[in-house]
Amino acid sequence: MDKFVIRGGNPLHGTVRISGAKNASLALMPATLLASGTFELRNTPILRDVNTMAVLLRSMGIASERKEHTLTLDTSGINNFEAPYEHVKKMRASVYVLGPLIARYGRAKVSLPGGCAWGPRPVNLHIEAMRRLGADIELREGYIFAHAEKLIGARIHFDVSSVGATGNAMMAAVLARGTTLIENAAIEPEITQLAEFLVSMGATIGGIGTNRIEIEGVQELHPTEVDTIPDRIEAGTFLVAAALCGGTATLTHVIPDHLAAVTAKLEDAGAKVTADQTTVTVTAPSTITSVDVTAHIYPGFPTDMQAQWTALMSVAAGTSVVTDSIYFDRFKHIPEMIRLGADIEVKDNAAIIRGVQRLTGAKVMSTDLRASASLILAGLVAEGTTEVLRVYHLDRGYEAIEKKLSLLGADIQRVAGEEF
Ligand code: UD1
Repeated sequence: MDKFVIRGGNPLHGTVRISGAKNASLALMPATLLASGTFELRNTPILRDVNTMAVLLRSMGIASERKEHTLTLDTSGINNFEAPYEHVKKMRASVYVLGPLIARYGRAKVSLPGGCAWGPRPVNLHIEAMRRLGADIELREGYIFAHAEKLIGARIHFDVSSVGATGNAMMAAVLARGTTLIENAAIEPEITQLAEFLVSMGATIGGIGTNRIEIEGVQELHPTEVDTIPDRIEAGTFLVAAALCGGTATLTHVIPDHLAAVTAKLEDAGAKVTADQTTVTVTAPSTITSVDVTAHIYPGFPTDMQAQWTALMSVAAGTSVVTDSIYFDRFKHIPEMIRLGADIEVKDNAAIIRGVQRLTGAKVMSTDLRASASLILAGLVAEGTTEVLRVYHLDRGYEAIEKKLSLLGADIQRVAGEEF
C-alpha cells in the first residue's frame, strides 16, 4: 500500500486543472446499460472508482476503452445482469446498475452494499422506487433480486433526498410505460447531468435541476456522448488547501456556481475569492477566521467537504462547529487530526473545533476518501513531516492529487510498495 510523505509549511501558488466529476461518471457509466451501441464519455477522471465501475460493466458485457480522459463504452454485447458482492462492497455506487437493468432487461441481481466506513448507508429508497415502478423485489442471500415484465410509470415521493436513489429512479423510469413523477428529487449537479445525458439518449424528462422531475417513458434509447462536469469536491478541496496553506491558487475547468457554498464560506473565513466563467482564484487570508458550517443537500455545503473544512478550522482563530446533517457519524478523521495536534471534540453529529496555533507532523491513517483528503490538508500545514498511510482511499476520488499539489508548490511524495 502506498503512503504520502508530506513536509508541511509551503504556501500554494499557481494554477491547477480540475478533473471530471467522479460522482457524475459513476452515474453516467451505468446509464449506458440503457441503450445498445457506442458511447463516448469525455473528461472522465482517471480514478480507482471509475475503474471499478468499468470492471463491473465489463462483467456485464460492456467493452470499455480509455484514451486519456475519454472513455468509450460499447454496450452491444450486454449478456449478464448481476452486480456481485465483490464489486459492490468496493463501491456503493455499483447499485446504480439496478434501475437500468430492470428497465431494459426486466431483471437484475445486485448485491446489497452493506455499511461503509462511517456507518450504515441503506439502499431502501432505491428499492422502494423500483417497487413503485412495479418491480418485484426480493432480498435474500445478501442480494436484491429484481424482476419486472415492464416497468410502469408511477409517483415516487422520497422521504429523504437521495442522490443515488434519484439517479436510479430516473434510469428506471425513462423506459417505463407512462409517466413517472419523482418528488423530493436530489438536485445535485451530478444528477442534473445524468438527466441531461438521458435526454440526449432520447429520454423525455421535465423539471431537470428541480426537486420535481417528470419523466415520460419511451420505447427505446440510443447511444450518445457527453462532457463530464468538473468535480466540485476536488475543486473545493484545492480551494480549502490554498486558503489553509497561504498563497494564491487558480483552479481551471470548473463551474463556479457549483462551488458557491464553499467559496462563500471561504470568504467568511477571510479568503479572497474571484471567479470568471470557468476559473476560480483563491487568496489565503493572513489569519483564518473561525466559521461554522452545516453540511446539507445541494446547494448547501457538501458533506463531502466537511472533513476538509475541519482541517481549515483546526488552525483558525477561535472556535467553530462543523455539523453534518446528512451523515451522523462521518468523523473518522478527527482522532487522526488530534494526533497532529488539533483540538477537536465530537458531539453527536458535530465537531467542535478550537483553533490551535500550529499542527505538527505525525503518522496518520486514512479511513475513507474525504477523511484522507482532510488529513493531507492538515499535513500540508503541519510543521515537520506527516505520513498519510493507506492512500488507496484517496485514489478512489482524486486524480493525481500529489502531482497537482506539487505543481502548486507543496512538498508531497507518494512512497510505493511498502507494507503498512
Ligand atoms: C452520494 C455521493 C456521495 C455523497 C452523498 C451525499 C455518489 C456516487 N456518491 O452518495 O459522495 O456523500 O451523495 O451528498 O454520488 N439514504 C437512505 N436510504 C437510501 C439512500 C440514502 O436512508 O436508500 C440516506 C443516506 O443514508 C443519507 C442520505 O440519504 O443519510 C443521502 O444519501 P445519498 O444522497 O443517497 O448518498 P449517495 O447517493 O449514496
